[in-house]
Amino acid sequence: MKILIIHGPNLNLLGKREADIYGSMTLDDINNLLNLLAKDLGVELEIKQSNHEGEIVDIIQNSKDYSALVINPAAYTHTSVAIRDAIAAVEIPTVEVHLSNIHKREEFRHNSLIAPVAYGQISGFGFDSYLLGLRAAVSIANACNGNS
Ligand code: DQA
Repeated sequence: MKILIIHGPNLNLLGKREADIYGSMTLDDINNLLNLLAKDLGVELEIKQSNHEGEIVDIIQNSKDYSALVINPAAYTHTSVAIRDAIAAVEIPTVEVHLSNIHKREEFRHNSLIAPVAYGQISGFGFDSYLLGLRAAVSIANACNGNS
């Protein structure tokens, strides 16, 4: 089983960026943990990061070989109809993740355009949101393929 992780804009700055909100781990640290967990779970992982909306749309459109997606759309969560439509179009089970709890931050972060087309959302557990997201993605991919 192959799972695709997509990190959206500014997540390449993790570790240096608003550490009080997003924590001190770098994106490489998080990716290393994801790769370790993927090994444990016996799944293949591909990890991509982009600061560009259209590039993220392209990545999603080209994801048909994956059993599930885990995406942190970052700021595009709150603005991108294009990313939402791409997820709806590919019909691959998708887990939306956020490091911070978007629902207890500024009001403009409360709405996610992605949530209605995602299988579910995990928000507020720091780097663990990604690890929980990967576990959820494997579980829903198995369920969609008729495995228990
Ligand atoms: C974020 C939350 C978004 O509101 C913000 O724009 C981000 C990161 C998170 O992981 O908590 O860039 O997606």
